[in-house]
Amino acid sequence: MNVISGIAEMQSAAEELRRSGKRIGMVPTMGFLHEGHLSLMRIARSHADAVVTSIFVNPTQFGPAEDFEKYPRDIERDTRLAASAGTAILFVPTVAEMYPDGYATYASVDRITDVLEGKVRPGHFRGVATVVAKLFHCAAPHVAVFGQKDAQQVAVLRRMTLDLNFPVEIIVGPIVREADGLAMSSRNVYLSPEERRQSTVLHRSLAKAGELIRAGERRAGVLIGAMSDLIAAQAAAKVDYISVADADTLKELQVLAQGASVLLSLAVRFGATRLIDNSLVNL
Ligand code: PAF
Repeated sequence: MNVISGIAEMQSAAEELRRSGKRIGMVPTMGFLHEGHLSLMRIARSHADAVVTSIFVNPTQFGPAEDFEKYPRDIERDTRLAASAGTAILFVPTVAEMYPDGYATYASVDRITDVLEGKVRPGHFRGVATVVAKLFHCAAPHVAVFGQKDAQQVAVLRRMTLDLNFPVEIIVGPIVREADGLAMSSRNVYLSPEERRQSTVLHRSLAKAGELIRAGERRAGVLIGAMSDLIAAQAAAKVDYISVADADTLKELQVLAQGASVLLSLAVRFGATRLIDNSLVNL
């Protein structure tokens, strides 16, 4: 595996791969890799000849009160893991080169960023869309793989890719979970043992809503109520939102219509740690 930090060097390597007829698959990450990221690299490998994984803790997607400084980092371990999952090039740009003095250009996606994560984290998706657009310019991928865990991010990046005419196919990898159901996330390390125990309620409440839907329930309010009740039973849990929305537009639903694609999603705080999870239901 080749480790590249310079943008010009990354662009030359991508050009060379393209000139020799290779398909490039990209997996953008913020590092502190776990099995969820590695599964995305394997998916990218199955769609491309060379996988470029980027590790960049992107300052523009963190709010002023968020965890940019303390976001977990372990580049040596990440380097070993990325190589083991079939990454050909590990791209680790610097903040100074990505956002030099005088930097002033942003990619901003309207409407679908006004709800859910975008409502609670203003500016977050502007940072995500901007950095992913820049990473696409650096690595020139034919295909890029993102995780379903960040469902709204996927919707925003699909829109940005389409609207800005990037010739990049977006592929979505399934959520990878711990044995007890907690969705893998680099932020799980922040949880105390007690918060970690209680955090399985995210997965359990999504599963409960899924069960109710399978049993015929179609009222979004009833589904949200059932999820809220389960979460309220966990003393450490504080709900940011629970949503039953159209999977494409992210508009909240009152009633689940036959044939609808529905995104059940939630964000819950455990102490200082904010966790998100979701489940897609096709009726
Ligand atoms: O999902 C992430 O890790 C980040 O939001 C991404 C897509 C790498 C952009 O910084």
